[in-house]
Amino acid sequence: MEIGAAYGVACMAALKRDATDYTAVDLDKRHLSILASEVKKQMPEKLSSLTLIAGAFPHADVVNRLRENYYDVIITENVLHFLTQAEMLEALSQFRRLLRPGGKMFVTTGSPYVYLLKSEVVNGMGAEVEEFLRQQKSNTAPADDSMLRIPGFFEYVGDVIDTEKFSRTEMDKIGIVPSCNITLLDREIAKYLLEREQFAVDTCAYMPMSSYPWQLDGREWLVIQAQKPE
Ligand SMILES: C[S@@+](CC[C@H](N)C(=O)[O-])C[C@H]1O[C@@H](n2cnc3c(N)ncnc32)[C@H](O)[C@@H]1O
Repeated sequence: MEIGAAYGVACMAALKRDATDYTAVDLDKRHLSILASEVKKQMPEKLSSLTLIAGAFPHADVVNRLRENYYDVIITENVLHFLTQAEMLEALSQFRRLLRPGGKMFVTTGSPYVYLLKSEVVNGMGAEVEEFLRQQKSNTAPADDSMLRIPGFFEYVGDVIDTEKFSRTEMDKIGIVPSCNITLLDREIAKYLLEREQFAVDTCAYMPMSSYPWQLDGREWLVIQAQKPE
């Protein structure tokens, strides 16, 4: 199963390598129609192996169409940073519910260590993460998730982008909307959230992205591989 399958880069590769049951979820049904026509053109015999679900994960209308304790693998690349904090917490909980015992999730998502963010945001992240994790271990953490203030979860992306380094015109060009939320995962925060959902974390590591306006210090992306216990 894939969240944010878009035009089907991962899906086509999996179908070519003998995947027999692939569920592709995407917010935008136009992306899924392009995916379906590519499968039809390149591997018509695989159309019956493909289930398409249009809608926003983890909203109920999508989640209710997915199967509990079922999927061998969940993939989501370049998507989770679009979620709000509440959606991210719900997404991780749903991944655990939907994977079969022993099933694995593979995630690539944005980290807060990117060039276009304000230096004070990037430089302050380490101390914020440390303080957050300290609070979670002590009994000073809020009991209710809606009261959590997780470092790297920003309500308005426009508040944290350094407009001196990266102008509004440049934002428009690559489609960044200042009023949107953005959720950027520090490695220790990701590990904490995964372990809270009882995932066994195989990999949680930074990966470099060497393109403008992201390239900073080699920690631009976060790659996660985690398993639901048997
Ligand atoms: C940046 S593209 C990444 C596409 C693909 N995963 C890749 O790495 O090439 C993000 C895709 O996720 C979809 N998307 C964004 N938010 C989503 C959500 N909450 N649920 C499902 N799909 C979402 C978008 O429509 C888009 O097709």
